Amino acid sequence: MEDQQELYPPVPPIVREPLTVGEVAVPSRFFLAPLAGYTSLAFRLAVRSCGGLGLATTDLVNARSLIEQRRRALELAETCVEDRPLAIQLYGHVIPEIEQAARWVEAHGATVVDINMGCPVRKVVRSGGGSALLCQVDRAVELVGAVVRAISIPVTVKMRLGWDDESLTAPVLAREFEQAGAAAVIVHGRTRAQGFSGAVNRHGIRAVVEAVERIPVVANGDVRTIADAAAMFEKTGCAAISIGRGALANPFFFRQLDQWAHTGEPGPDPGFEERLDLMSRHFHGLFARRGEFYACLQFRKILKWYYHFTRMPKLFYLRLIKLSSVALFDETVAAVRVAGPSSSLPGHFEAHVPVPSGPIDKW
Ligand SMILES: Cc1cc2nc3c(=O)[nH]c(=O)nc-3n(C[C@H](O)[C@H](O)[C@H](O)COP(=O)(O)O)c2cc1C
Repeated sequence: MEDQQELYPPVPPIVREPLTVGEVAVPSRFFLAPLAGYTSLAFRLAVRSCGGLGLATTDLVNARSLIEQRRRALELAETCVEDRPLAIQLYGHVIPEIEQAARWVEAHGATVVDINMGCPVRKVVRSGGGSALLCQVDRAVELVGAVVRAISIPVTVKMRLGWDDESLTAPVLAREFEQAGAAAVIVHGRTRAQGFSGAVNRHGIRAVVEAVERIPVVANGDVRTIADAAAMFEKTGCAAISIGRGALANPFFFRQLDQWAHTGEPGPDPGFEERLDLMSRHFHGLFARRGEFYACLQFRKILKWYYHFTRMPKLFYLRLIKLSSVALFDETVAAVRVAGPSSSLPGHFEAHVPVPSGPIDKW
């Protein structure tokens, strides 16, 4: 017992305290970060069913597309009562459009509106949205103030540390956003110039924590283990942690973190059946909302993580890689249950999530 306790870092006292974002009580200090292409309603519900999740966020949604009621934007903003608390993330650069989109999501199930100021992709940045706003302090603050006035639910901002190492604007922006009424900021500890490369700069996140007076700062970037989470709390003084890629590798990570927060240990690893149930809920959630064709296509994209996570024998993996029907999925999962895992179940592994690479100005 003593040996086992030594394996896990001590729990920082703040992790046990209740947390609110604006007026909203959040059940844990571990949030699901937005991952465009992955953080669908089906995935969010599957993760929630494992337990321990604080606040989830949707993929980024284009404000203009939403007010034009385009199908893709409506699908991204889709939610339901079991999917709470939920931040719907908006991006854009035309202030009245973001205000209008914020009013729409407030009326359609959002608990929080999150404004994207971190996206490094050229299409978003070129139009003045995403991380381009990190370079325009006045405009960014005006935007946040306008959205805060337009709705009555909390407004948060997700940002990077700045455009590049010469322009670390996040602390100044966070302070100004707080004055403008933002309820929290989420900081990915990299600059736009870094893309997804290099290490997360915890000192940079700490500078944001020190710049605000009272709103929670949610730290983000490369948290994949309990030791990573403990170090993030300790080194940054953050109020909460947002996890993206680590949740794709292990959707039970929130449950384990929350358990650690309360008991000092993550509890038993999820068993084989539990892992298969989760995979099944995820797939059937996709099917229920988006139909068979989309569910099969999307599932092929995420299958490799479930392959590692469940250690299903390769034969079944090869069958699912060409998945074309719900019947084939159900049959294969039933056969996997009988066969059992091909080797011992992993506690933690690195999920390789494709991110843009090469020179950042070409993204
Ligand atoms: C595939 C992918 C899609 C992403 N989509 C979004 C997005 O829609 N909105 C956003 O604010 N950040 C987005 N991010 C950034 C993540 O939310 C997060 O800041 C980043 O991955 C670092 O956290 P992590 O190491 O826990 O994944 C995306 C990242 C990846 C890898």
